[in-house]
Amino acid sequence: MDHYEYEERLTVTHQFAEEEHMEMSLRPRRFDDYIGQKSVTDNLKVFIEAAKLRGEPLDHVLFYGPPGLGKTTLAGIIASEMGVDLRITSGPAIDRAADLAAILTNLQPNDVLFIDEIHRLNRSVEEILYSAMEDYALDIIIGKGPSARSIRMDLPKFTLIGATTRAGSLSAPLRDRFGVISKFELYEVEELMNILRRSAGILGLSIDEASLREMALRSRGTPRVANRLLRRVRDFSQVKGSGQVDLEITNQTLKALGIDERGLEGLDRDILKLIIEKFKGGPVGIDTIAAALGEERVTIEDQYEPYLIQAGFLHRTQKGRVASIDAYHHLGLKAPEEEQLKL
Ligand code: ADE
Repeated sequence: MDHYEYEERLTVTHQFAEEEHMEMSLRPRRFDDYIGQKSVTDNLKVFIEAAKLRGEPLDHVLFYGPPGLGKTTLAGIIASEMGVDLRITSGPAIDRAADLAAILTNLQPNDVLFIDEIHRLNRSVEEILYSAMEDYALDIIIGKGPSARSIRMDLPKFTLIGATTRAGSLSAPLRDRFGVISKFELYEVEELMNILRRSAGILGLSIDEASLREMALRSRGTPRVANRLLRRVRDFSQVKGSGQVDLEITNQTLKALGIDERGLEGLDRDILKLIIEKFKGGPVGIDTIAAALGEERVTIEDQYEPYLIQAGFLHRTQKGRVASIDAYHHLGLKAPEEEQLKL
């Protein structure tokens, strides 16, 4: 199946940006091609096989973890292994209860409905989901005031796959209705190298091992970042190099993109610098950091902190965020004595 066929099978309710569109062709479509997240995929394979044996839809699944780790991709693989269609939408895209009702009533039996950013569903939409998930039914209120009444409509059986950057921001009633809850972890360097090797093959790009490793090291544990880097490296190699990717072209690209030796970008470094220079290394509260940088708290928490913590630059403590000794060294700043760090 080529990627055009795959795309045709997706009913997409929001427009893909060009890059997202491009990314589709790099997305694996089978478990065999999906690298990493082994504890998630090992379990899912069992649940899928069991559901198929019973001729039932897969139970509802919640994926949580930082963005760019392949949640949508895995939803596509699940649908294709179940032999059903995938319908993709997102929390913010579903404005009204009627929008969700329209999506649900159009599903075929056992289809997979993927709702990205499911924590951003509004209350009235979320409440429709409860009975849809539990009883495959839609409770519709007809009329207003004293004469209003509720009628129940049957829905086809389906699987909801919800994705969120954090399970904690979901309401308890919604979270409780998922039979499977899976956490996505940042990827190891070797895994990212394998993803990049596969992507380079698909793009017909000739690239050496040293470049693959360098890109993997500087991709923040995130396949989306790795694949984006690969495309920019390809651009540089086409325009400024021989078309072959080597370490020189790779480093030139990384430099041009402002990505440093450990994969940090501007805002990563700004966060660490702020904590060190304005707050003596911390502890400092996340709201203070967000306000000082003019960013949303959730952006920092969901998109920046996971990697800073994994890379050992930042610690999360009861009293707030603390910069590590490594963070001082990395930024070329003089570190305080170990015992003075307020961990
Ligand atoms: N692209 C994005 N995530 C991937 C993964 N886990 N394996 C292979 N390719 C990917």
